[in-house]
Amino acid sequence: MPRKTNYKPDYDENYDDDYDAYDDYDGYDDYDYGSSKQESGKTYEEGKKINRPVLWSCSICTYDNDQSLVYCEICGVLREPSIAPGKDGPVKVFADAASNATEKRRTTKVKQKHGISANSRTLLSQLSQLGVGDSSPTPYNMSQPDNRSSLLSDKRPIDRSTASLATANMLDENKGNNANINKNTPQTLANDPDRLRLDKSLATNRKEDTLADCKLEKGLPHDQGHRTHNQLNLAIVGHVDSGKSTLSGRLLHLMGRISKKEMHKYEKEAKEKGKGSFSYAWAMDESAEERERGITMTVAIAYFDSRNYHVVLLDSPGHKDFVPNMIAGATQADAAVLVVDASVGSFEAGMDGGGFGQTREHAQLIRSFGVEQLIVAVNKMDLVGYSNERFDFIKAQLGSFLRSCGFKESAIAWIPLSVIENQNLVKPASDTRLSSWYCGLCFLDQIDTLQPPVRDVTKPLRLPICDVTRLHTLGQVAVSGKLEAGIVQNGSKVLIMPSGHLATVRSIERDASACSSAGAGDNVAISLQGIDSVHLMAGGVLCHPHFPVAIATRLELKVLVLDITIPIITGTHVEFHIHHAKEAARIVKIVSLLDPKTGKVAKSSPRVLKAKQSAIIVVELDVPVCVEEFSKCKALGRAFLRSSGNTIAVGIVTRVFDQNE
Ligand code: GTP
Ligand code: MG
Repeated sequence: MPRKTNYKPDYDENYDDDYDAYDDYDGYDDYDYGSSKQESGKTYEEGKKINRPVLWSCSICTYDNDQSLVYCEICGVLREPSIAPGKDGPVKVFADAASNATEKRRTTKVKQKHGISANSRTLLSQLSQLGVGDSSPTPYNMSQPDNRSSLLSDKRPIDRSTASLATANMLDENKGNNANINKNTPQTLANDPDRLRLDKSLATNRKEDTLADCKLEKGLPHDQGHRTHNQLNLAIVGHVDSGKSTLSGRLLHLMGRISKKEMHKYEKEAKEKGKGSFSYAWAMDESAEERERGITMTVAIAYFDSRNYHVVLLDSPGHKDFVPNMIAGATQADAAVLVVDASVGSFEAGMDGGGFGQTREHAQLIRSFGVEQLIVAVNKMDLVGYSNERFDFIKAQLGSFLRSCGFKESAIAWIPLSVIENQNLVKPASDTRLSSWYCGLCFLDQIDTLQPPVRDVTKPLRLPICDVTRLHTLGQVAVSGKLEAGIVQNGSKVLIMPSGHLATVRSIERDASACSSAGAGDNVAISLQGIDSVHLMAGGVLCHPHFPVAIATRLELKVLVLDITIPIITGTHVEFHIHHAKEAARIVKIVSLLDPKTGKVAKSSPRVLKAKQSAIIVVELDVPVCVEEFSKCKALGRAFLRSSGNTIAVGIVTRVFDQNE
């Protein structure tokens, strides 16, 4: 089975309700893509709209205001620029309206659309100016000998690639317990009482993370195990039902990672449950709930070897409610596959800017995580008769959006395929309707053409914790995630931040096999000794004891605002995401607006931030997070802001304020 990351969904109480509502969304054929009618803000504005005439529409947030109002009721912007504001009029109205709106947004169900405009094409064109996606220069050391032995039985064609510990059987025995622990003990920093006992000296006495200081790790070899291939972490992302899990499952089957017998079992079980078409997806969607709903909820990790790479597949959920889970996987990606459904109505639904179009949101997010290389898998070509015209249409529509997100044209590969009919997956298409016009590479060969990722093994250890697993039998605890910098080896001491506790590495597992050490880029599970599991949580970071990561509640960010309709103002409440941490935050200052072309300051202290603007802002978090300036560690310095289930801004950390600043 693939390993599943265990994150809470973005919502709790309305879980079932939201899914009921989602069921209604299935009818893509009925979906009115062209309509600009948006449900966004409906719950907030509806009542007011019904009983009074609409007389002027705000140029900023498009809210329809009563004629008697001089300022927009929602965002406080003046109706006519020529009308001079009163003494404290606009500012007060602004703040009140924003806090009302924010409050309302918080209590609204996740099905509410945010009101992102449907026709934007120029989003994120400034991402490169924000610096996301730059690669570090240190190449990966591939020359270490093979001295490992696998601890897993050969009977497990797909393994829990990073979550399993010293013995896979142990994990199986405790599966139920682990699930409970993860459910009952939400793995967020906010829930850790111990974080308040943070050893302040760790934060204040931080050494500079320079190579000169980092003698311990400099040049230290790490165990490459049995691998002859470079590891490639490949996130599979895209709109709900586009076929991500089916693609992943079928690929694993074709690559021999799922046996015929096992596949037969999936087919039988899926048919019995009336979900025959999901048999390949069942290989990835292993929980009862996922299978019953026919939807991925948590990221599944599985792997196979291609000609050039040891490929780690991170099959993400496509449903909007599970974006935080998608993020957990996609932040670990070196490259991504964006799966789109070619069928009429479905592709368009994924491109919908009204809040549900996850083709758009996923593309924006993975680019903001620094993913530069993208394969667009145009799936379900069987449903459009392998039409060249449809493929070209999708390529043109999505292509211009991807370029606006900051993807270089040369770094995007377009592959038409049908997973169900096994066309163009691991060998060229046999169906002449496709082979007559497509003569490019098949999907598998395209993966092999991706550029190898560069790894930061010479910097101090940084392992953002993605998941925590407890093994009751031995009182052990394990963390999993991707090593972003440095190396880690058996027996070494590591510092757990933000709690500031030390632990000893008891064993390391990579791809379900034990190894003595692992380096930057590896997805690992590390079992630790000498630490209580309450000090470990997703969003924490394992560090070199001499080089603790910074922790802070106040950060300066350089952000690019996405396609929002309600402007951002000082005081706006947001959900702050950075690596695997998610915390409530508030925008406390809009320092400056930046010129989109030059990146220089265009205006100091603007009152509002609108869609597509880039700016320097200061955010204050309710509780501290582990963070680095982007210039020091890219993976720990990329952040994004969400509100009402939508990503509203992406950016990088430009300054980490001291606790007492
Ligand atoms: P989420 O994880 O929930 O976002 O969905 P997904 O993208 O993983 O989609 P999944 O693999 O679960 O497939 C959804 C449906 O699409 C299933 O019924 C599949 O059988 C079907 N499907 C996948 N690929 C193809 C294809 O190439 N052609 C056709 N006709 N159907 C396909
Ligand atoms: Mg899926």
